[in-house]
Amino acid sequence: MRVEYRTNEIIIGDHSFKQFISKGKIEKRIRELAFEINNDYHRKELVFLITLKGAIFFAVDLLKKVKVPVCIETIIAKSYGNNLESAGKVNFFINSELLRNKDVLIVEDIVDTGLTISTIIEEVKKFEPKSIEVATFLIKPENLKFDIKIKYFGFKIPKDFVIGYGLDYAEFGRNLTTLYILERTS
Ligand code: IMP
Ligand code: MG
Repeated sequence: MRVEYRTNEIIIGDHSFKQFISKGKIEKRIRELAFEINNDYHRKELVFLITLKGAIFFAVDLLKKVKVPVCIETIIAKSYGNNLESAGKVNFFINSELLRNKDVLIVEDIVDTGLTISTIIEEVKKFEPKSIEVATFLIKPENLKFDIKIKYFGFKIPKDFVIGYGLDYAEFGRNLTTLYILERTS
């Protein structure tokens, strides 16, 4: 597969991506979110439930700015395979008694249709946490099909495919510190 970077463009396979949200804008937004979380979870037993792999950058940058001492748990959720569209099915595994009776914040990379996050929320409920909220780096409101409450989000974006800052296309591009958006497919 063709994988290439240029000054203003990333190429993966037949797809070309252009810069969309800068590193600076991302950092500023994360500072704002951390400020809210620090206020909302003051004196609470907070668990960051991080969905792998996509939310790693967002979660780590957020965690560095969160002053409340938190617990960390991870979960692997997968729905996309190597496509640009959701497979409509979510596979994942949580086995954590750590969530019981705690205030759980599910940290996601992106809420697209909302299937993944609503499935995770239902699963987390089984561990009877004190509260469950969602912090997602991105949300695509046009694609949302589930009635879910997203308390913290970084940016609302159009429905086009994005990569970088943890998000991938066919597993490539997670390392990019800028967010890129699909420009064209040849
Ligand atoms: P949902 O279940 O339809 O909400 O899809 C959520 C999952 O699909 C995310 O956790 C991502 O892994 C993946 N996803 C959705 N949109 C994008 C995108 O634009 N780029 C990369 N991954 C995406
Ligand atoms: Mg994901």
